[in-house]
Amino acid sequence: MKNIEKNKSLKAYNTFGVECLCENFIRTSDEGELRDALLNSNFNQKFILGGGSNLLLTQNIKGLCIQVDLKGISIISEDENHVIVEAMAGENWHEFVLWTLDQGYGGLENLSLIPGNVGTAPIQNIGAYGVELKDTFVSCNTINQQTGVGKTFNLKEAEFGYRTSVFKTSLKGAFVITSVQFRLTKKNHQLIIDYGTLKEEVKKLDPKGISEAVIKIRQRKLPDPAVIGNSGSFFKNPVIQELEFQKLLKHNPKTPHYKVSDTEVKIPAGWLIDQLGYKGLKKGAAGVHKNQALVLVNHGNASGKEILSLAQEIQLKVLATYEIKLEIEVNVY
Ligand code: EPU
Repeated sequence: MKNIEKNKSLKAYNTFGVECLCENFIRTSDEGELRDALLNSNFNQKFILGGGSNLLLTQNIKGLCIQVDLKGISIISEDENHVIVEAMAGENWHEFVLWTLDQGYGGLENLSLIPGNVGTAPIQNIGAYGVELKDTFVSCNTINQQTGVGKTFNLKEAEFGYRTSVFKTSLKGAFVITSVQFRLTKKNHQLIIDYGTLKEEVKKLDPKGISEAVIKIRQRKLPDPAVIGNSGSFFKNPVIQELEFQKLLKHNPKTPHYKVSDTEVKIPAGWLIDQLGYKGLKKGAAGVHKNQALVLVNHGNASGKEILSLAQEIQLKVLATYEIKLEIEVNVY
């Protein structure tokens, strides 16, 4: 295969900005070349890289690392009210969201400024401010990594849940997403502004106005990966049983929470970590962000292992203090 780079540093290819070498690296913007790379028998290990924004690299990568860089946005169909838009996997997520807003389409505004690419967004069903990717998802096209055969997954087959999908669970590592289709609104937009302080921030009640407000909140709370290495929320917000929640309330009457069902309650992990005094804490170059305790950061030359070790320390402390198990949301390699 041509274009293969040897012993390439992936520091610039993961938003944590940690150093990691990969034996062989290819970036491809061609679907045929992507298929050839997946089926290349010279390398028995393949590692698929998207925007590198939900990834903590703790070891060098053996075999072939393939960066999916397929580009393009197209309109598949439309009627008076809706449009089906397809974006290729290598499109930057936020630029795609801005494109949809420029066309006057609604549905993705709450998901503005999320780092990463379109093709990796379904894997963890990205979500923010009361909206998840699954809410506008129609289907995604994929390639089977073993056979090279194409397969389309619809909403049901994608098995979306809170920060998860079939691509993160039973079919982890089995398919590469090549494009995603969304159903967006052309009018009568469903505006969702009930999350936290979003309502107060919105100046104009339309998709663009909501996007602007979301961008402002994110810029205030979340570190820009271009300035300080991070991968967004490092942990999932834990869901606990109502009975356990009542116990927690006895000791901490002000615990913030959201009801998930009659028997389950979601607790913000950022609050738990914050209560333990970790906000802004630094351990070498690894740290907890000063404005949002759910985000771990790389202040300079932290290794993936150092960041993971801080994460494990936090997990142990939360377990010992609150008897709550924090689950890591970021993919650790
Ligand atoms: N909180 C604290 N201290 C902190 C952080 C949060 O007390 O350091 C409290 C806040 O005061 C608030 C609550 O925790 O009462 C929730 O905080 P926030 O609204 O910032 O949201 P989050 O639950 O921490 C989730 C997502 C974010 C998403 C926001 C907004 C997860 C794992 N994270 O964070 O997603 O942007 O809601 O919808 O669900 C991401 O996945 O990378 C991400 C950034």
